Amino acid sequence: MSGNIESVLNETRKFPPPEAFSKKASISSWAQYQALHAESIKNPEKFWGEVAEDLHWFKKWDRVRNWDNAPFAKWFEGGKTNISYNCLDRHLDSWRKNKAAIIWEGEPEGDRKVLTYLELHRQVCKFANVLKAQGIGSGDSVALYMPMIPELAIAMLACARIGAVHSIIFGGFSAPALVDRIHDASTKLVITADGGFRRGSVLKLKETVDEALKSCPTVKSAVVVKRSGNAVTMAEGRDFWWDDLMAKADAVCPAAELDSEHPLYILYTSGSTGKPKGILHTTGGYMVGTYLTTKHIFDIKEEDTYWCTADIGWVTGHSYVVYGPLANGATTVMYEGAPNAPANDRFWEIIERYKVNIFYTAPTAIRSFMKWGDEHPRKHDLSSLRLLGSVGEPINPEAWMWYHEVIGGKRCPIVDTWWQTETGAIMISPLPGVTPTKPGSATFPFLGVDVAIVNEKGEELGVNQGGFLVIKQPWPSMLRTLYGADDRYKDVYWSRFARQGWYLAGDGAVRDADGYIWILGRIDDVLNVSGHRLSTMEVESALVAHEAVVEAAVVGFKHDVKGEGVAAFVTLGRGHEKSPKVSDALKAHVRNMIGPLAMPDQIHFTDSLPKTRSGKIMRRFLRDVANGVETKGDMSTLEDLNVLAKLRADEE
Ligand code: WT7
Repeated sequence: MSGNIESVLNETRKFPPPEAFSKKASISSWAQYQALHAESIKNPEKFWGEVAEDLHWFKKWDRVRNWDNAPFAKWFEGGKTNISYNCLDRHLDSWRKNKAAIIWEGEPEGDRKVLTYLELHRQVCKFANVLKAQGIGSGDSVALYMPMIPELAIAMLACARIGAVHSIIFGGFSAPALVDRIHDASTKLVITADGGFRRGSVLKLKETVDEALKSCPTVKSAVVVKRSGNAVTMAEGRDFWWDDLMAKADAVCPAAELDSEHPLYILYTSGSTGKPKGILHTTGGYMVGTYLTTKHIFDIKEEDTYWCTADIGWVTGHSYVVYGPLANGATTVMYEGAPNAPANDRFWEIIERYKVNIFYTAPTAIRSFMKWGDEHPRKHDLSSLRLLGSVGEPINPEAWMWYHEVIGGKRCPIVDTWWQTETGAIMISPLPGVTPTKPGSATFPFLGVDVAIVNEKGEELGVNQGGFLVIKQPWPSMLRTLYGADDRYKDVYWSRFARQGWYLAGDGAVRDADGYIWILGRIDDVLNVSGHRLSTMEVESALVAHEAVVEAAVVGFKHDVKGEGVAAFVTLGRGHEKSPKVSDALKAHVRNMIGPLAMPDQIHFTDSLPKTRSGKIMRRFLRDVANGVETKGDMSTLEDLNVLAKLRADEE
């Protein structure tokens, strides 16, 4: 990318936090935020050192931050701790001992379980002993390929307890994707289940593991949770039932005293090209980062019931279903299945049943809820909600307003949280008791986060000038490297602004006149129409603001005159039929809202868009369709191959 991105955002609505919310919030005034933020940037070692004091360390660190060997960071060097201890044992000497740690709900109606901190601790200790008995020790890699069941959280915390490195592979991935990840991390043990429930059918996880293990010689054994009860084959001497091993395991297992920089997990994330990147996170800094962000951004109170809907197979689940909430001694809800099983109101039913107070989900889910209609949330009492969150991609103002009005009843602040698998924890977000929000803006950097928006020379850009989002100082929960690929780590994140020593996030962003940050999406997704760089996100926002549209994806295609033309893929709402008239109306609408430059040259109507399994629209496939060329490259992250096939068929 070169040159600036022209930002055409024009969102002026502003929502201050309700006074009653601010009064009780963990950070409660703008002045307090500003002072803390300024201090955290000026004196990060003092700031983060004080935060880390909230947690348990077997031995205190010698040095808070070591950036001498940049971009390879060390945090709390010399310190000894354990995140499993901090998520569990730390709470057992208090009344939290019998507090609900995990409230779990399976997809089949009536499948429910509550684990108190004491019970969770017991199970984790037992499973840690199971791991040891399987020959797993400190530094060994363990793959978790599981449904959203309590055993997944138990297995993670058990790995962390003994210093084994977990690598969670989302249950929707196929055998080849599993093989790649197992090879890359030289995994010794796989933990899985017979199956998991998803939208009424059984996801046959064990079958996929069997297929993958044919070509994974490093894997010596597999532990299998009985979840769905479908028949599976158990390889003699290699495969063991979870329950059988647990029955024999001792319930005492002291947490290992690990170096702060001991690896905690590897999580693979797809790059736009090449093989997946193994993001490596370590213990102390990640723990401190997820602890503090959960505390202030979700403003978690002792009595809150908190629900993050992400699958634990993604970083959001790691940081904000498990580690962040448990490090805070909170009650975290975990749901196994789909939002529309058995019906479109499942989420709202869960919120009503557990009186959920804090709800964190993704824009792609919110847009589905809008499409399904208001009657589903309206059937349920959602008055327990006091705070809403969004993550994963830019939330278009239309979806933000719907979330605010229909789910939040206009009383709940919304935290639009920007971060990445690489950052480990939230980086840019409103503070719910402090920041007046604007629909679609992630607002301001969190404490200790030093961001800038710059052009290709590294010069800071002014108001309404879009450019590269960079992070100017290291932060505790940052990735330490790409597993086994230090050079790629340097190249991907640190080479563009090597002289300045800045982290390249890969996203475009812009600041408005009030200093609010707006994320414009991936730099790779920027359009270049007649020499003007436009963010696809902004054109999509304009389309979704039209009453007929529920979801839109915009890509560029090769255009003889303009360099790049604008192609829009559009899903219509109920009661709207595709027609040339609607197509013209949409073009005129974008022209009115943004200008002639952004007017789509092509409008494609589609029932659904190709998405990653985590819900991100895969624009590179749409680009191929718009350009009329064949699709090449890795398709393993695509959720539903049929969507793409259908799009192609529609073109013919
Ligand atoms: C990319 C990171 C971080 C957890 C889930 C995704 C996009 C994420 C936002 C947001 C605009 C967002 C960015 C980022 N993104 N949150 N609130 N507003 N964009 O993790 O798969 O590593 O993806 O997701 O493009 O770089 P991930």
